[in-house]
Amino acid sequence: MIPQAKQWLSEARRIAVLTGAGVSAESGVPTFRGPGGLWRTYRPEELATQGAFARDPKLVWEWYDWRRSLIARVDPNPGHSALAALEDRSPEFTLITQNVDGLHERAGSRRVHRLHGSIWRVRCTECCAETTDDRVPLPEIPPRCGCGALVRPGVVWFGEPLPATEWMAAERAAKTCDLFIVVGTSAQVYPAAALIPMAAQAGARIIEINMEDTPLSGVAGLSLRGKAGEILPQLIS
Ligand code: OAD
Repeated sequence: MIPQAKQWLSEARRIAVLTGAGVSAESGVPTFRGPGGLWRTYRPEELATQGAFARDPKLVWEWYDWRRSLIARVDPNPGHSALAALEDRSPEFTLITQNVDGLHERAGSRRVHRLHGSIWRVRCTECCAETTDDRVPLPEIPPRCGCGALVRPGVVWFGEPLPATEWMAAERAAKTCDLFIVVGTSAQVYPAAALIPMAAQAGARIIEINMEDTPLSGVAGLSLRGKAGEILPQLIS
């Protein structure tokens, strides 16, 4: 199927890519739902909701601080690099990610639409000032803003809306691309997963790259089973 996928890539004029935790798995970042996945060990409602933060900001920040330390120690893998190279050589290319780890940017992707925010951004819960804070570990947990209020991670939690501009850009790309590549996502979290049928309905060819089937594999014209860090470099070679 790789030659067929390469053919589709060469015929595409507008390419959009949606990535999930699987693209960072080979870097050593745990996924959420697979073996060793974060949501197999931790309960999202205790760590990734506004209610959890209101109840125990220290616990929530300790968990994010642990994840930040883990991510700071790893490097982008050949899958991230292949997507950065694809952006360089494609006339119209949109990278949409559900990941908060910043590895696409570190691999050289220039324009990344982050649907779920960034683990390296922090936002004041009172004055809403948003900044980048990449100190690892954080010197104070929970961290505080200059105005004295608590600062929260700049990520999207369960029950929160996606950042409007990022979502609009993602929707536009899904509806106007002719090739939509879905990499390393379980396609279970909405609205991000809705981009896949949206692109298909608008007439795009869909390639899915994943270790296993997902609920939306049936929408894909081509399903490439295996590791993103091995398949993506082959596609662009
Ligand atoms: P999941 O953990 O749900 O799914 C990861 C997917 O990657 C699975 O389908 C795996 O089969 C696949 N996978 C694992 N290793 C892979 C590899 N080396 N190459 C290719 N595929 C691989 O992660 P997401 O779909 O990203 O949201 O999860 C979506 C959202 O749920 C996350 O952004 C996060 C989480 O709750 C928020 O925190 C808001």
